[in-house]
Amino acid sequence: MNDLNIIEIKNLVKSYDNDKIIALNGINLEIKEGDFVSINGPSGSGKSTLLNMIGALDRADEGQITVAGVNLMKNQDFSEFRLNKIGFVFQLHNLIPNLTVHENVQTPMIELGIPDDEMEKRAIDLLRSVNLDNRLEQLPTKLSGGERQRVAIARALVNHPRIILSDEPTGALDSRMGDIILNLLREIHRKENVTLILVTHEEYVAQSADRIINMMDGKIIN
Ligand SMILES: Nc1ncnc2c1ncn2[C@@H]1O[C@H](COP(=O)(O)OP(=O)(O)OP(=O)(O)O)[C@@H](O)[C@H]1O
Ligand SMILES: [Mg+2]
Repeated sequence: MNDLNIIEIKNLVKSYDNDKIIALNGINLEIKEGDFVSINGPSGSGKSTLLNMIGALDRADEGQITVAGVNLMKNQDFSEFRLNKIGFVFQLHNLIPNLTVHENVQTPMIELGIPDDEMEKRAIDLLRSVNLDNRLEQLPTKLSGGERQRVAIARALVNHPRIILSDEPTGALDSRMGDIILNLLREIHRKENVTLILVTHEEYVAQSADRIINMMDGKIIN
C-alpha cells in the first residue's frame, strides 16, 4: 500500500433534468491507491452517480475529477480509459447472452488486441479463480445469478484494472451467495493491490471496508 491518491475529486456537481435534480452537490473526495472503500447512503443519495463519474460513464457539470492520472473533465472519449483502468461489477452484469462464459470474459481483451492463446489462458485462469472453470462453454442464461456475477467479476479483472467499481454486486443474491461474491472481491483487493470501491446497502459488507463514505442528498456527510 502507498500514499498515492488514485482518485481526486473537488467540488463535483452533477444535475439532471435541467438542474431540477441535483444528484451530486459538491463532492470532495480523495481515495488512495489500494484502498477498499464502501459507499453507503439512502436510495437516491447519489451513490451510483458518483460511481459513474469515477468510471467515466458519465460526465460531471462542474468541479474536478482525476482518476488514475486522467482528467475526466476534459472533453474527450474515455473508452480507452475505461478499458484499461476500470473493472465494472454492477448488479446488472451486462453479460452478452449469445456468447459463452469463456467468450464473455475474453471480450475486453479482444479490444486490446491480445493474442488468442494468451487470451484463452487468462480467461480460463480467472474463471478458475471464481470456481467456474467447469462452465466455460455455458451460455450466461443457463447460470444462476451468483454464477453470472462471478463471470462478471472475472471479466472485470481480465485487463488488470487499477480500480474495481462495484454497484450493489450482492443486491440480487441470497445472503450465502452474497457472502461468496463479497469475499471474492475482498480477496482480489488484497492479492492484486487493486483499489476497490463498493456501493452497498448491506451494513455487514460496509464494515469490512478500510473506509466508509456516507452520502446524503448528493453530499458526503462524514
Ligand atoms: N439519468 C438520470 N436522469 C434523471 N435523474 C437521474 C438520472 N440518474 C440519476 N438520477 C437522479 O439522481 C439522484 C441520484 O441517483 P443515484 O442513482 O445516484 O442514487 P443512488 O444513491 O445510487 O440510489 P439507489 O440506492 O436507489 O441505487 C436520484 O434522485 C435520481 O433519481
Ligand atoms: Mg444506485
